Amino acid sequence: MNDDVQLDYPDYRSTRLRAPKRPLVTLPEELHTLDGPVFGDDDIAELEADLTRQHDGEPLGERITVSGRVLDAQGRPISGALVEVWQANAAGRYRHDVDRHPAPLDPNFSGAGRCLTDDEGRYRFVTVKPGAYPWRNHDNAWRPAHIHFSLFGRLFTQRLVTQMYFPGDPLFEFDPIFNSVRDERARQRMVSEFDWEATTPEWALGYRFDIVLGGNGTPFEEER
Ligand SMILES: [Fe+2]
Repeated sequence: MNDDVQLDYPDYRSTRLRAPKRPLVTLPEELHTLDGPVFGDDDIAELEADLTRQHDGEPLGERITVSGRVLDAQGRPISGALVEVWQANAAGRYRHDVDRHPAPLDPNFSGAGRCLTDDEGRYRFVTVKPGAYPWRNHDNAWRPAHIHFSLFGRLFTQRLVTQMYFPGDPLFEFDPIFNSVRDERARQRMVSEFDWEATTPEWALGYRFDIVLGGNGTPFEEER
């Protein structure tokens, strides 16, 4: 847990009920040293990393790739880490029962994918850029476009749930979730970079998002 994440952040209303009120419990030492994946060893199909090919047709929206590396606090690649993503569609709507945003669902977009990192710690997703969406935290509350990430590394201490943002989003300053990470540099670690090298001609823009598990890495968030 990063010290710069304020878990009880009044402007982000649901943290009032969710933030711990007692001292955190330190995990037993054996969980820090447990080797091997903690999520099971079922095969993950290559197609699960392509959110644009899960239905008969292609989803609407701006096709993008999101790729990067997963590293430990010492900068070493973490191979075989499970990376899971979920996101709204291009119109800012989740395929979820409680999403009441009056924006269209896309029959060709479920909005979830997963993959394992390779030997160099690399991962890559193909998806569409998610739309901004309103939420009921306060009057005129809008979330910047974001992709939710969940990671399981090799150790329980390499568990991370976070959100990836897009560079230059005008909603950053108005979003209490983004700003609940109080340190400016830490906030920037949640913002992906436009990646010209990863941009595929006549097909998709590339965004790069490197993730550090453990130490002073990518800020952790409490799950919504
Ligand atoms: Fe979200």
